[in-house]
Amino acid sequence: MRTQVGIVGAGPAGLMLSHLLYLDGIKSVIVENRSREYVEARIRAGVLEHWAADLLVHTGVGERMQREGLVHGGIHFSFNDELRHIDFKALVGKGILVYGQHEVVKDVITRRLADGGQILFEVNNVCVEGLTGAPKIRFQHAGRAQELDCDFIGGCDGFHGVCRPSVPNGVLTGYEREYPFGWLGILAQARPVSEELIYCLHPRGFALFSMRSPELVRLYIQCAPDEDIAQWPDQKIWRELHARLAAGKSRELAEGPLIERGVTAMRSFVVEPMQYGRLFLAGDSAHIVPPTGAKGMNLALADVLMLSRGFADYYRTGRSDRLDAYSATCLRRVWKAQRFSWWMTQMLHIGPRHNAFDRKRQLAELDYVTSSEAAARSLAENYVGLPLDI
Ligand code: FAD
Ligand code: PHB
Repeated sequence: MRTQVGIVGAGPAGLMLSHLLYLDGIKSVIVENRSREYVEARIRAGVLEHWAADLLVHTGVGERMQREGLVHGGIHFSFNDELRHIDFKALVGKGILVYGQHEVVKDVITRRLADGGQILFEVNNVCVEGLTGAPKIRFQHAGRAQELDCDFIGGCDGFHGVCRPSVPNGVLTGYEREYPFGWLGILAQARPVSEELIYCLHPRGFALFSMRSPELVRLYIQCAPDEDIAQWPDQKIWRELHARLAAGKSRELAEGPLIERGVTAMRSFVVEPMQYGRLFLAGDSAHIVPPTGAKGMNLALADVLMLSRGFADYYRTGRSDRLDAYSATCLRRVWKAQRFSWWMTQMLHIGPRHNAFDRKRQLAELDYVTSSEAAARSLAENYVGLPLDI
């Protein structure tokens, strides 16, 4: 087989890259080791920055999102038994869109297949070769060994993928921080406690009240990174959620049947550069942010937008300036998102070595950010997404 851009991974990065390339008349093939059903049901992110929502609309994959997504103009913080609002619309004139990542994945898969795109699901033993010369993706599909020759490879296979580890030792530099806590996340059939997200700091730990629709809530509780989910019967989850939310609001918290639950460890990670020869890393394969800033899926989309522009220039004019600048261009945004995600995380979680000083400092920070217009505007600017020309 032969194509122009071979893509490993059918998450938001790989799918959107393939879609953007198609709109520029560039051929691609995606290889994905999971089934279509699996990737379409994988519950993950829920917040689209304003430009990311616009990008989906402008490129023709935003129709269902416009109908079903929830437009939010701000967020709440709960601390000291009080609720405080940050009004993004008033501060920076923009909002965010709450729409599940797996819905984005479904929409782009549907569109890619309708446009004749090739996505090979359930492939095995993927390996990438010839990264500085003639790139090739080898894999097994439907019981047969296959080879895909390409001009370039898009490494969109997430944090645990094969592309990043295929770069020779010593080429990439990794920057990493692990956090001594994780998130226990649930999806439940219940009415949201608030129209907008509530981020809570409580002596028992962080909690987040998010949603997917007026009947479906997505809720998170700070826990140990290796928390045993079997130790969390439904009643304990609801008790903990009630305890961590400001009392007045906690009384309004509706409970309902759980339809999904899982634990995610948290880390910050960046690899530099995001390129080796003809392999370009995009999304979680190049960087991970703790989810407190709601940035992961958005960074994946920003990377592939830059990458698609680089490929478009290359195939249209033969010039590689944009491709050569890909890593440096993306990393400027990536590091700002890292900073913001780390900052939100340290402000809202209780670390195992936290003492009374740390607690007072966190409360002062939340008080400052919810009462100073300058501080609130900085938070809002980062949360809705730093400007990106789509
Ligand atoms: P992935 O979605 O991980 O996709 C990679 C794909 O590659 C997968 O389909 C995988 O199966 C495939 N793959 C892996 N290895 C191979 C292989 N060897 N061969 C072939 N295919 C392979 N981000 C936000 O922006 N906002 C949020 O609100 C948010 N909340 C989150 C909440 C949680 C609980 C979690 C876990 C994450 C959250 N994120 C959030 C982060 C977001 O989900 C990720 O950043 C996003 O999925 C990155 O997309 P990606 O395409 O780079 O990687
Ligand atoms: C979600 O709705 O899943 C969500 C929202 C905000 C975050 C993380 C996750 O910061």
